[in-house]
Amino acid sequence: MCGIVGYVGPQQAEGVVVEGLRRMEYRGYDSAGIALVHDGAIAARKRAGKLANLEKALAEDPLPRACTGIGHTRWATHGAPTDRNAHPHLGAGHRVAVVHNGIIENFAALRAGLERDGHELESETDTEVAAHLLESAVQSGATLTEAMQQVCRRLEGAFTLVALDCHDPDRVVAARRSSPLVVGVGDGETFLASDVSAFIAHTRDALELGQDQVVTISRDAVEVSDFDGRPARADSYRAYHVDWDLSAAEKGGYDWFMRKEIHEQPAAITDSMLGRHDAEGALQLDELRITEGELRAVDKIILVGCGTANYASMVAKYAIEHWTRIPCEVELAHEFRYRDPILTRDTLVVAISQSGETADTLMAIRHARQQRSKVLAICNTNGSTIPRESDAVIYTHAGPEIGVASTKGFMTQLVACYLLGLYLAQVRGTKYGDEIAQIVRELDRMPAHVQRLLDAADEVNALAEELSGTRSVLFLGRHTGFPIALEGALKLKELAYIHAEGFAAGELKHGPIALVEDRLPVFCVVPPRGRDQLHDKMVSGIQEVRARGARTIVLAEEGDDEVTRYADDLIRLPVVPTLLQPMVAVVPLQLFACELASRKGHDVDQPRNLAKSVTVE
Ligand code: F6R
Repeated sequence: MCGIVGYVGPQQAEGVVVEGLRRMEYRGYDSAGIALVHDGAIAARKRAGKLANLEKALAEDPLPRACTGIGHTRWATHGAPTDRNAHPHLGAGHRVAVVHNGIIENFAALRAGLERDGHELESETDTEVAAHLLESAVQSGATLTEAMQQVCRRLEGAFTLVALDCHDPDRVVAARRSSPLVVGVGDGETFLASDVSAFIAHTRDALELGQDQVVTISRDAVEVSDFDGRPARADSYRAYHVDWDLSAAEKGGYDWFMRKEIHEQPAAITDSMLGRHDAEGALQLDELRITEGELRAVDKIILVGCGTANYASMVAKYAIEHWTRIPCEVELAHEFRYRDPILTRDTLVVAISQSGETADTLMAIRHARQQRSKVLAICNTNGSTIPRESDAVIYTHAGPEIGVASTKGFMTQLVACYLLGLYLAQVRGTKYGDEIAQIVRELDRMPAHVQRLLDAADEVNALAEELSGTRSVLFLGRHTGFPIALEGALKLKELAYIHAEGFAAGELKHGPIALVEDRLPVFCVVPPRGRDQLHDKMVSGIQEVRARGARTIVLAEEGDDEVTRYADDLIRLPVVPTLLQPMVAVVPLQLFACELASRKGHDVDQPRNLAKSVTVE
């Protein structure tokens, strides 16, 4: 939700900031803007629409050379995505420029106060209030750092602010509360960004700021303080080295990041399994900071997440309950705390989030910790807020996910959920060691299975081409196939903008079957034959929709010949255990959505109205 960039150093700031914004654009693409300090004044440009509009404006009317700059790519919250509402916003005398990610909840009261004092605000945004407040403070003699501390003490909500003062051209000052901000420490240059991909081309040394901190950067220095102006304790922020490089954040020959990320899944699974079991298949989750005693005491698990992460939670429930016999609840993070859930010290809350910044999930875990429950994060983004505020974390080593629709993020969330379930089973003794080792071996085979599906992508692409004119698609599944049906539908909705619905196949006859009409494409995820009842019931469901004219696109394991005669199109899946089938069944659905959206001419990486990291509630 909004990408922000700051830079101080010897390079031409415009180039560095725009390059950073290009890598941040997945976070929001309603408008973009940049401000530089040149010759004691602020030079700024901003444009509604994608970054390309700003780049065009800069090409037609270049900004002057400068060594200090800030930039922003926006996902609109307050005010429509117009030129006027685009960031940066300037103070009354155009001395201070500010970019902002998040929501200032008390902005209406602050704005009214400013207007009473004679300020005229130009935009409808909450951000401009911060610009005016900061500028008033520096006009009264405060440094920009002091001004930021003073203003942040007055702000409510979640925010990252990055500001420049044209009277102090060698510094950029930023602050964060419940919203991401990282510092990139280069050689004689320093960067600020929402995430490290903005500056990974320049440095891999990063510093992750703590909650409620202000940071002042210059070419050679980084100073961190709290909102009261006290220097921050050294253990309240963290220096780290990023273990992936620029090539991981580039498209590498693919037309879309999403397609590249779908194809990276075999490697992502391998990386997520690495070092997490020994040669005998016994799990070793060394990074888990919850003791075995605490895990043995767990009497209920609640899995929270949003969107695709919520579907990973649904899959996890089937596996974890089966392996551990611990009751699991699945909850949308934004519904969680409002229903006053029953939480005790023995409840384990598992928060699943690719970005680690989803505000709904963050608020859910804060609520859980207030109630003294333990929180374990499953997260892909090192150092992000959710793992930092959790008691324990299992990182999914998918590498950077840039495409807005989650693919390898989801795949590795599944891996982490399975590892967690097996680890709990091992610690609590609900599965024998050889049973666990057997499932671990199956997980180790997954990269090869997924690769086989990717090698057959042309078949799915051809189907997408054929169906590119369709206006509606249904997805059916049972058991672990149900969340995959939901995931297949979500991908199609968000990328192809067509009506798509996922259903538990058993639910059809209770209403949704009325949607079926002649030639309606219906994807059917058939469970492996090991669970005969499940398989047979699914086959009945396929027959029911086919009898009503649907075009059935059946995903069934190799060797399952029973389904052949009910399938108008057949997509073969590798033979895997039922609980692990989501890892293979989701792949053709990801490919289908990516290709169909491409065929329709949509921007697959940046679907309309969306943003990668949803940092507002
Ligand atoms: C859909 C998608 C979203 C995210 C959701 C949670 O393709 O990507 O539904 O899964 O916004 O995001 P994270 O996992 O970052 O918390």
